[in-house]
Amino acid sequence: MTTPPPTPDLEARAARALETLAAITGELASARALETNIERILRRMEAHLEAREASVWLHTPHGLARGWSGAAATITESEVRIGLAAGAAGPGAPLVVPILLGERRVGALVLRLRRALDDEERTLVAILANLLAPELAHAERSRQLEVEVASRTAEIERGRRFTEKIIDSLPLGLYVIDREYRIQSWNRKRETGMQGVARDLAIGRTIFEVLHRQPAEMLRREFDEVFGTGRMQEYQMESAASGEPRTYRITKIPMRLGDGPVTHVITIGEDITDWRQAQERFVQSEKLAAIGQLAAGVMHEINNPLATIAACAESLGYRMDDLGRSGVAVAPETRDFLEIIDKEVVRCKQIVDGLLDFSRPKQPRRERADLNEVIQRTLFLLKHHVRFKKLAVQTELDPLLSRVPEANTEQLVQVFMALLLNAMDAMGERGTVRIVTRRGATAGDGAVAEVVDTGTGIARSELGKIFEPFYTTKPQGQGTGLGLSICYGIVQEHGGRIEVESTLGQGSTFRVILPVVEG
Ligand SMILES: Nc1ncnc2c1ncn2[C@@H]1O[C@H](COP(=O)(O)OP(=O)(O)OP(=O)(O)O)[C@@H](O)[C@H]1O
Ligand SMILES: [Mg+2]
Repeated sequence: MTTPPPTPDLEARAARALETLAAITGELASARALETNIERILRRMEAHLEAREASVWLHTPHGLARGWSGAAATITESEVRIGLAAGAAGPGAPLVVPILLGERRVGALVLRLRRALDDEERTLVAILANLLAPELAHAERSRQLEVEVASRTAEIERGRRFTEKIIDSLPLGLYVIDREYRIQSWNRKRETGMQGVARDLAIGRTIFEVLHRQPAEMLRREFDEVFGTGRMQEYQMESAASGEPRTYRITKIPMRLGDGPVTHVITIGEDITDWRQAQERFVQSEKLAAIGQLAAGVMHEINNPLATIAACAESLGYRMDDLGRSGVAVAPETRDFLEIIDKEVVRCKQIVDGLLDFSRPKQPRRERADLNEVIQRTLFLLKHHVRFKKLAVQTELDPLLSRVPEANTEQLVQVFMALLLNAMDAMGERGTVRIVTRRGATAGDGAVAEVVDTGTGIARSELGKIFEPFYTTKPQGQGTGLGLSICYGIVQEHGGRIEVESTLGQGSTFRVILPVVEG
């Protein structure tokens, strides 16, 4: 049996089919720009088969998804499903050819035809489906990767924003520089305040440009130290840039991106003014406690001989009176000596009494005290004081002040007495002392009482010492130097604190801050 010679018509069609196939293969091989290529292939198919529509569907892990369309492509997902299940197209239904990669279905080639296909055309469609299989698998993988990359990017971005939020929420100034001294991170706290610089203006610039007020050489040295040694550096810095003097703790921390040398330095600036003040207050109260113990130990030793000396001096006085009455001449300075002995004994007793204030078991606090009343009582007691009554006294007492709980009124009177007497001493003959009470700025700072004088003021260098026991600038015999240290102890016992502000030559303000309760 011989094969009949191909008819010219058949030959022409086969030639055209081969041409189409060659073009399609060329398209596929030329580039992996599938999006446009597949669409082009589909249009070619439509033309070749005189089909109305052609499309390629992807078989994703989540089901079918339309991938590419030739012309109109009104083909629906359910048509594709039915076609895949039925295998053969019913009348009017599109032809659905599964695209298989080995056993796995990676998609479907769908054609809505105007007429039935002949064998060659079917072969052509089958070949095309085969050709498309690896491309679709590749496209599917790319899509998955795209989704994965997008989700990873979002995750990284979320992580980055989270870390940035943490850094921004810190109550610390923080920035990071690289080995070129360029700023890589700059947190919110560094943007605020007098020295603040906006993040956009800081990132990418060198630290010397941004912190131009600090000597560049010094900055460089500090950073080089950390880059060089790989060790953390910590130091304190005083700055009045925000208006008032503040203390900062600066920490420079080495950071390594890999296992090698230091790649970045993190700098943290922390305002430790309050902490340092609290530390100083703690040291101060430690000192007071030590004085108390010391006083408790020596008070009897001193009080007893003092009492003996006083009694002896008194007896000697009587003895001299007797001698005088019996006509015996006594040197006149002898009586002066006795007076000196008496005065000095009184002074010694005052010192001992002052010291006892530290060591005596504190009387229980009993009452709620009205700070305004405490001040009125103190002023009443001072009314007859020879020097105090010469001063102008102004009071501005807030009538709505809440009461100090569990107070020892006597002790509080003692505090204001000491402050007012100091103010008096600082002002000499003339001056104005103002006493102000008001509510504190925060709940913890319940009530505030200020004693403001127009006296000599206190030198900055001395401010730290005035609360120390025995620190006095008054002439011998006039001050023991215990007044303020006792005030300090009492106010602290009441859960409060004393602050002082002073300008030499202008005057001082002593501020007593006490906790309060409502009602
Ligand atoms: N209002 C003030 N103005 C100027 N200096 C003051 C004032 N209050 C206290 N000082 C300084 O602080 C020092 C210590 O005061 P403090 O009350 O502890 O002791 P004192 O007044 O010298 O002696 P004492 O109170 O024991 O009689 C004073 O000697 C004075 O130099
Ligand atoms: Mg005093």
